[in-house]
Amino acid sequence: MVESGMTLGLGTGSTAAHALDRLGELLRSGELVGVGGVPTSLKTEAHAARVGIPMLPLGGEPAVDLSIDGADEVDPELNLVKGRGGSLLREKMIEGSGGRFVVIVDESKLVPRLGCTGAVPVEVVPFGCDHTLGLIRKVFDGLPGFSARLRTKGGGGKDGESAGGPVVTDNGNYIVEMFFDDGIHGDLNDISDRLLRITGVVEHGMFLGMATSVVVAKKDGTVVILH
Ligand code: A5P
Repeated sequence: MVESGMTLGLGTGSTAAHALDRLGELLRSGELVGVGGVPTSLKTEAHAARVGIPMLPLGGEPAVDLSIDGADEVDPELNLVKGRGGSLLREKMIEGSGGRFVVIVDESKLVPRLGCTGAVPVEVVPFGCDHTLGLIRKVFDGLPGFSARLRTKGGGGKDGESAGGPVVTDNGNYIVEMFFDDGIHGDLNDISDRLLRITGVVEHGMFLGMATSVVVAKKDGTVVILH
């Protein structure tokens, strides 16, 4: 899908890292020329520099032709949960800036409903984060099996104990993790709007209607592309 001359959105995470390595190989061998990348995190920026992908800022024209990134969850409508690695804000800015957005996952990421397998992250400003956490909880008031907490360093999984201070994102913000026992039931766009209306919420990790295709690697070695 990548062609010479393209500007690429460069994803973050263990899956996207394979794409970065491959892009680096193709650039070094000369099979691709004139490709530049807009990195979705500081980690990806460092990785791209290591493998020789020229870096571009967000804001060119076009902003990006094609973004490639992993995901934490993919639902049957190709809505995503992203950001368990903490990079959701830059990912959404870059992957939502136009062009195609190709998601690369293994089949363990396919879920019947978002929020089934772990946290749905929300990036919040540090100031008043406990107040913002309370407002986020109110969006799901009374929903059985819902909980939310600030992500902490070494905080572990759903029932893990807090082990350090808050995790700080590349943008200097904190992450609230929302958990749902049985995934998110209800209108995702409405939930998204309600979260984004909270002053103090910067962005959330539900990527709704953004993926143009999802490349799924299966255990048997085959690959399926969902549109
Ligand atoms: C980074 O913040 C995330 O959005 C990742 O893209 C997502 O967590 C997928 O990561 P893995 O490919 O490591 O599972």
